[in-house]
Amino acid sequence: MEQNSATKKHKKNPFGLILHLHPRKVRASTLRFSLTFGLGGMAALLMVIQVVTGLLLKFHYEPSPGEAYNSILNLQESLLFGKMLRSIHHWSALAMVWIVFLHMLRVVFTGAYRTPRDVSWILGLALLILVVLSNFTGYLLPWDQLSYWAVTVATSLLSYVPLAGELIREALLGGKEVGQPTLTNFFNLHTGIIPLLIIALMAWHFWRIRRAGGVIVAEKDMGSPMVDTRPHLVNREFVVAVALLAAIFLISSLFDAPLRERANPSFSPNPAKAPWYFMGLQELLIHFHPFFAVVVFPVTVLTAAVWMPFIRSDDVNQGIWFLSDRGVRSAKFSLAAGALFTVLFIGLSELLPDPELLLPAVPPLITTGFIPFLLLALTVWVFMNYIRRRFSLNRSEMIQAVVVVIVTSYTILTLTGIFLRGEGMNLVWPWKV
Ligand code: HEM
Ligand code: HEM
Repeated sequence: MEQNSATKKHKKNPFGLILHLHPRKVRASTLRFSLTFGLGGMAALLMVIQVVTGLLLKFHYEPSPGEAYNSILNLQESLLFGKMLRSIHHWSALAMVWIVFLHMLRVVFTGAYRTPRDVSWILGLALLILVVLSNFTGYLLPWDQLSYWAVTVATSLLSYVPLAGELIREALLGGKEVGQPTLTNFFNLHTGIIPLLIIALMAWHFWRIRRAGGVIVAEKDMGSPMVDTRPHLVNREFVVAVALLAAIFLISSLFDAPLRERANPSFSPNPAKAPWYFMGLQELLIHFHPFFAVVVFPVTVLTAAVWMPFIRSDDVNQGIWFLSDRGVRSAKFSLAAGALFTVLFIGLSELLPDPELLLPAVPPLITTGFIPFLLLALTVWVFMNYIRRRFSLNRSEMIQAVVVVIVTSYTILTLTGIFLRGEGMNLVWPWKV
């Protein structure tokens, strides 16, 4: 009898699935929009949009070099709402990279990556990489000039990985160049393996967040009351979801997903650029030895990111934006310092003579690799000591300052690569790119 009424109650509840993702009650302070901006939830909704639109696109898409481009033209011209469907998938994919990235910054700047959220953080890092890979594998599918050459350039970065680089590149491409086996591999990764991995890791991410007691609560808010998830949280999530859907539909109806001319493997555009999220790496390649640009820098940053939650700190300000007043001031200072340093670095490396020409007898791995890397590491060390003393920072505030410098630097490198590199990847004014 009791079981019957429980089943009935459950059946009547239209929010059943959403409520299962949440505890029955949540702390009122965590409902403040400005704590999370709903970014994690938006990322989850975008994934649902990608799966739904992706499955529909799959009905019409032909993963072969001869037919891929035609199948997209056909989809756009003869299928009702075909263009819209493709545009929604395209713009949501772009939004997803941005939103997941901003969500990560929100977690760093509210100090929400430490125990008991360390595993959520590491799962998040894996999710970020998978979302970028999902974008990258999707990029090739339209098989137009842009996609063909962007994938050729980006996968060529892999050959700089010592020992296994060429092997990994050929395994991914299914041969020496981008062709039919590449399209088959990318299609299978894009529509099968990667989405399944994202869904599995997302479920694990959600479970860990739940186990950690929900979203981070600042110490000053510990006394804030517990309120019912429905209506308080679910209503807010609903508003954010509707706003996001409206924005995606509006953008997709105003701007069509781009499609250039059909891929031509024998005509490379000049300059040939990687997809925008890899442009920072392509820009680094101009300044550093490839081994450092493609292996040492990314591996150092990723290792530091995995290690971040385990760096001991005595701070008590988790759950507060930028941790403290000192944190706000040092973050602003780091933003300015990171921007100035990167711009100066790009400018000087353009004006000063090439170290390889100055010291022809020394191997480039040393002149454009080890020496600049050590100089950079020294600069970061001096900078960290300086801001620690200037702002009396604790470890979490220091980590935050370093993240600000790295993100600012990568953003400027990316913008330079996209807007200021013209023919032969030389620096030009943006209107000449
Ligand atoms: C597909 C990608 C992702 C999805 C769907 C997702 C989803 C979510 C959701 C719904 C929350 C709780 C509410 C919120 O903060 O908005 C959350 C919290 C969290 N996420 Fe993510 N996330 C993703 C990627 C990431 C990334 C890239 C990171 C970091 C590298 C990350 C680290 C965390 C952490 C540490 C928390 C706990 C924060 C806290 O307790 O305040 N997540 N995530
Ligand atoms: C994280 C999730 C996903 C992301 C970020 C993503 C991203 C992308 C991107 C950037 C493109 C190229 C779009 C264009 O400019 O034309 C694309 C194309 C495509 N995607 Fe996805 N996708 C995701 C999930 C899926 C799923 C789950 C499927 C199917 C099961 C799918 C099927 C397709 C198909 C068939 C195309 C080719 C059609 C086209 O290019 O318009 N995608 N995807």
